[in-house]
Amino acid sequence: TFVIALPCVDVKDKACVDECPVDCIYEGERMLYIHPDECIDCGGCEPVCPVEAILYEDDSPPEWQHFTGVNAEFFDGLGSPGSSAKLGPTGRDHPVVAALPPQRT
Ligand code: F3S
Ligand code: F3S
Repeated sequence: TFVIALPCVDVKDKACVDECPVDCIYEGERMLYIHPDECIDCGGCEPVCPVEAILYEDDSPPEWQHFTGVNAEFFDGLGSPGSSAKLGPTGRDHPVVAALPPQRT
């Protein structure tokens, strides 16, 4: 699956959302998250992110590898909503992301 990593935090450009054919990129408070079961690995989102936050999971540098779990675990309790547009902004974050200091001043 594709994964959104640290550079998205406090940026949230959202260009990726418009590219996704299955609408599986969900909005948290400080970043967006890709649903690992709904993503069909089309890769359309990856080149449009202006801060290069989107990576194929196997290509993540070591310091960002935990973001694979961060994206997946964000959906604990949400299940598989099937559409980001339908669910809307969640107003929450994975605890690892919520605990990060501000990434932009
Ligand atoms: Fe984030 Fe990049 Fe999408 S900043 S919202 S992953 S376009
Ligand atoms: Fe969507 Fe990106 Fe996956 S465009 S299907 S989240 S690779």
